[in-house]
Amino acid sequence: MSRTAQDDSLNGQVVVVTGSSSGIGAAIARRGAQLGATVVVNSSRSVEAGEALAAELHGASYCQADVGSEEGRERLIRYTLEEHGRLDHLVNNAARTQVIPHAELERLTTEVWRDIFELNLFATYQMTLLALPHLRRSGRGSVLNITSLAGIRQLGSSIPYAVSKAALNHLTQLLAKQVGPEVRVNAVAPGLIETPWTADWTAQHEAISRSAPLRRTGRPEDVAHAAVALLTNGYTTGAVLLVDGGVGLTA
Ligand SMILES: NC(=O)c1ccc[n+]([C@@H]2O[C@H](COP(=O)([O-])OP(=O)(O)OC[C@H]3O[C@@H](n4cnc5c(N)ncnc54)[C@H](OP(=O)(O)O)[C@@H]3O)[C@@H](O)[C@H]2O)c1
Repeated sequence: MSRTAQDDSLNGQVVVVTGSSSGIGAAIARRGAQLGATVVVNSSRSVEAGEALAAELHGASYCQADVGSEEGRERLIRYTLEEHGRLDHLVNNAARTQVIPHAELERLTTEVWRDIFELNLFATYQMTLLALPHLRRSGRGSVLNITSLAGIRQLGSSIPYAVSKAALNHLTQLLAKQVGPEVRVNAVAPGLIETPWTADWTAQHEAISRSAPLRRTGRPEDVAHAAVALLTNGYTTGAVLLVDGGVGLTA
């Protein structure tokens, strides 16, 4: 089945959002469900919050799984197929960082690089690989990677985090060339967004509210809006869509 730009609902489609018990992932799960998707909410630790969100969303369900582990990734895919019978979209949202000032180069041990790359890049790639056969069968399958402005401009919570997101932006485009026409691969690159992850980054929030072209930091809903546009637009692949209020223009 081929899609046209007119199909802007997610009716009958199953969407897995990794790391969706809070923040950006939760907003994407909410927006997806509003557009008719059957959403699989996922987290590794916050089971109560994940279950509560799934209970709130029509047709949604929750699967606890650490997507940083092979066992967790396999469980999430198996659960989705057993529970919902298909998989149409994979949103790779779960990620981690360590906050390390960029000047403190000697703190970037191989362990730090591995810790961040393990989840943000290696696990995301393996998760995508596991999902691919099912996405191909969907007829309108897509992968959406949540990356970061830090993967485009020279900023972010640490150098390894920024490099992991830059790698994911490039991987998005390299994969898009390989898996069409059955599957599309896109990315949303958020700027600073108000989530639990950045709740105590007061100075950065204030600076952006003063200097960014749109004079505010982002909300999870801003990212979710862009995310569903990429899930539903059948003629976009390899896109990296910045949702940063113009922060990248001033960085
Ligand atoms: N907030 C920002 O300013 C911003 C900016 C640019 C990009 N981003 C990106 O946006 C994404 C979401 O960030 P956020 O700010 O929404 O973070 P958040 O509010 O801290 O949410 C992170 C979510 O991921 C889950 N998670 C973490 N590790 C996991 C794992 N191994 N397996 C499964 N789930 C896992 C968390 O639940 P558990 O801890 O219970 O597992 C939680 O549901 C990340 O990719 C981040 O890099 C955020």
